[in-house]
Amino acid sequence: MRSALLEHIGRLTDDDLPAYVHDLPALREHVHAIRTALPKRVELLYAAKANSDPRILRSLAEHVDGFEVASGGELSHVRGLVPDAPIAFGGPGKTQKELALALDAGVERLHIESEQELRLVTTLLGYRTLDVLLRVNLPVDVGRVALVMGGHPSPFGMDPAQLGHCLAVIASDPRVRLRGLHFHLASGLRATAQLALIDEVLTWAEDWARHRAIDLTEVNVGGGMGVAYERPHRKFDWRAFGAGLRPLLARHPRLTLRIEPGRSVTAYCGWYVTEVLDIKFSRGQAFAVLRGGTHHLRTPAAKQHDQPFEVIPVDVWSRPWERPEARDEPVTLVGQLCTPKDVLARGVMVERLRVGDRVAFALAGAYAWNISHHDFLMHPHPGFHHVDDAEVPVGGDAYTPQPS
Ligand SMILES: Cc1ncc(COP(=O)(O)O)c(C=O)c1O
Repeated sequence: MRSALLEHIGRLTDDDLPAYVHDLPALREHVHAIRTALPKRVELLYAAKANSDPRILRSLAEHVDGFEVASGGELSHVRGLVPDAPIAFGGPGKTQKELALALDAGVERLHIESEQELRLVTTLLGYRTLDVLLRVNLPVDVGRVALVMGGHPSPFGMDPAQLGHCLAVIASDPRVRLRGLHFHLASGLRATAQLALIDEVLTWAEDWARHRAIDLTEVNVGGGMGVAYERPHRKFDWRAFGAGLRPLLARHPRLTLRIEPGRSVTAYCGWYVTEVLDIKFSRGQAFAVLRGGTHHLRTPAAKQHDQPFEVIPVDVWSRPWERPEARDEPVTLVGQLCTPKDVLARGVMVERLRVGDRVAFALAGAYAWNISHHDFLMHPHPGFHHVDDAEVPVGGDAYTPQPS
């Protein structure tokens, strides 16, 4: 953990905990490295669903080519914060209201999920034009990965056989321009697997377009670049990915390739920091009960992993009894919820963990607070902090995300 971050955490009082602490310089450095690793012909969008914290979005804005949103709420939020950034609007089940909002907001690209959705949006166009990508569920084997969104029966996108119906609608409506195809088939892929998948997708896409005399200029291959929660230091290899894309793009000289990662961009900049309230032993097994839990950080429950963490020892102990501790043994870190599912990390070896010590969970910058069931048991919400080298605020800052 960076010393600036550790200092910030050190200044938080017990009442400030639990807290999300976001390391903005680290985020900027990371996204800059991603951008630098990618060939120029690759456009980088950030999938706002991973974390739509305003300061994160603003920090990313100057490094990305735009944002991918998946609801009217995300669309308004992103447009309000970074008004000039291009926006692609994707995701299943867009309502008529959301489609109208997308048209009014002038989104750059609409990712069409079905013929029904395409027909619906054409009823709202009036004199406007619309640039669309058709989302395809390609029958490919994506292997054993964290999340599979396509390649098998799924509610996402269209089977290739259904694309023809959309082409017929587009052919009959000059206001709709087909810009290309969109794919987001899996999450949790390493660089070599991503490259192999993109190769397959691009080959299929160009073949599909050639057979229909379609001038295909754009393919968006989605996100899904993996984050290894079990090995936090093994990051997605953006340099190998960028290097692998170059020869691949050379084979498709007319295509602009877009990617829209979320998790792999912001996961590393976020920390969920809390304290040990109790250490208990049950039938010989050690449990550390923490302030907070999976209602703030649902990621380990959702993905069934141990959230990586660092122990920050707090040496002060002013109680008149012996300080409960676990030493050189596996400990299960749980939260305050009355459910056996409230586990943040299970049976992880610790050198020493005491009541009053702090625990900082890493990789909490993506799909963390925003996917959690905040109000279960009505515990207080965490504070939200942003460490920036220019200014180091202490105390929860202005951003208080609204409960979903
Ligand atoms: C259409 C689409 N694009 C991009 C993403 C971002 O994926 P990730 O955060 O795994 O990079 C998602 C995630 O669900 C998605 O559904």
